[in-house]
Amino acid sequence: EVYTDYFVDEEDFDKNHFRYKKLNIPEGVEEQPLAVPPVLKPDKETETDVWFTIESIEGESQILPGEKTKTWGYNAPLLGQTMVVEEGKRVHVTLKNSLPELTTYHWHGMEVPGPITDGGCHAPVYPGEEKQIEFTVNQPAALTWLHAHPCPSTAAQVWMGLAMGVVITDKNEAKLPIPKQYGVDEFPVIFQDRTYHEHNQLDYRADYDAMGVFGETPLINGTVRPYVDVTTQKVRLLFLGGSNRREWRLHFDDDLVMTQIAGDDSFLQHPVKMTKILVTPGERLQVVVDFGQYHDGDIVNLYTDDFKLIEFRIHKFMADNSVFPDTLFTPEIPEVDPSLPVRKVTMDAHNMMNGKQFAMQRIDMKQRVGQAEYWDVTNTNSKEHGMLHPFHIHGTHFLVVSRNGEKPFPNEIGVYKDTIPVRPGETVRLLVQFPLEGVFMYHCHIIEHEDAGMMAQIEVFDPDHPKTYKLMDMATL
Ligand code: C2O
Ligand code: CU
Ligand code: CU
Repeated sequence: EVYTDYFVDEEDFDKNHFRYKKLNIPEGVEEQPLAVPPVLKPDKETETDVWFTIESIEGESQILPGEKTKTWGYNAPLLGQTMVVEEGKRVHVTLKNSLPELTTYHWHGMEVPGPITDGGCHAPVYPGEEKQIEFTVNQPAALTWLHAHPCPSTAAQVWMGLAMGVVITDKNEAKLPIPKQYGVDEFPVIFQDRTYHEHNQLDYRADYDAMGVFGETPLINGTVRPYVDVTTQKVRLLFLGGSNRREWRLHFDDDLVMTQIAGDDSFLQHPVKMTKILVTPGERLQVVVDFGQYHDGDIVNLYTDDFKLIEFRIHKFMADNSVFPDTLFTPEIPEVDPSLPVRKVTMDAHNMMNGKQFAMQRIDMKQRVGQAEYWDVTNTNSKEHGMLHPFHIHGTHFLVVSRNGEKPFPNEIGVYKDTIPVRPGETVRLLVQFPLEGVFMYHCHIIEHEDAGMMAQIEVFDPDHPKTYKLMDMATL
């Protein structure tokens, strides 16, 4: 079966809402090869441990013709390098801040303790300083990501470029017959949008909109008008919804089928074939595209709506008749004690969650470590005036149980997720279990909504070993 819709009704698309900005390509930009972030080299590695340094820096990037743009990045002037870590390894990271302001290093999708290692707003690294963290990778292969998360300037820092991919590999992935030559037949695809002002500079304040900031120029891995040389029949694309507000409604020429193999935090139990894919802020989806019907010299484009994003230039390739196994991954589905109440989380108008705005020193909920619970996450916006909110939880993954009591979307079944679009008036039931203790944030991943308060905190506790946390205050940052 091939699915041919976005699963979300057109009326809920971001383009039908407040102050939507259409995409355009500034004049004079030529097509250029897609930037592929280099793989981050460890400082040191042993059988069991690996050490990295991640430095936030200011830099300049040639994004448009003419003047360079001032940008920020991790060990790179813009975005960063791709960090690759193996399941089971102990990872030691030196977090260095060479920016003129404080920042934090949030591991979105990684199951690490909160609130310090997790890198949300309680873990600032001040300018000129560094901090050491360490954690063990104990989760399946996935594309997770690192981004800045200081409250309330996450959006502004991500806008400058502080986001990079963190790829987890494992034994299961190593065995799967899927493309895995990074930069050859496997490409990270970070979707973002930015507006460039005078002298080709960003101006987040000028573009600010509390409903969420759209940029006018699409950037893929920081490249405007990218092309990819295709030299193998099958290509694996690791999509990352990296924009502050914009959704990406992807589809190829000829309605070429994309076989989704992975979601946020794991492979899919069974691959799902689709001609259209929606990527909302914070989400990751991996697809394999088979260019077998094309020939040397052909061009196949990837679009969002009717706007061309990436040109795939087909070259000679060898026939590849490999077939996916029907089962890629076996999710663990924890049991929920039926006597437990279902948690209710609402994303409300005026950037509130459960009727309140975020407060750094307030714990909004508590859940026992290792205990599986249902969360009913409701978008209380009205169908007429509301918008879709992508809901995200730190420090764990979840399973999608139902949408308004019905089946989840086909590509949400049998996969670990940490970010999920919730439509106006919709309730999504999640099965949530935290593997580690700490204080963790959960929020809408439209970053302006989060910064403005559509965020809350949960304390994950072990009743036998109670802990107290020193939570920062906005004022003490
Ligand atoms: Cu990407 Cu608080 O998250
Ligand atoms: Cu996160
Ligand atoms: Cu939102």
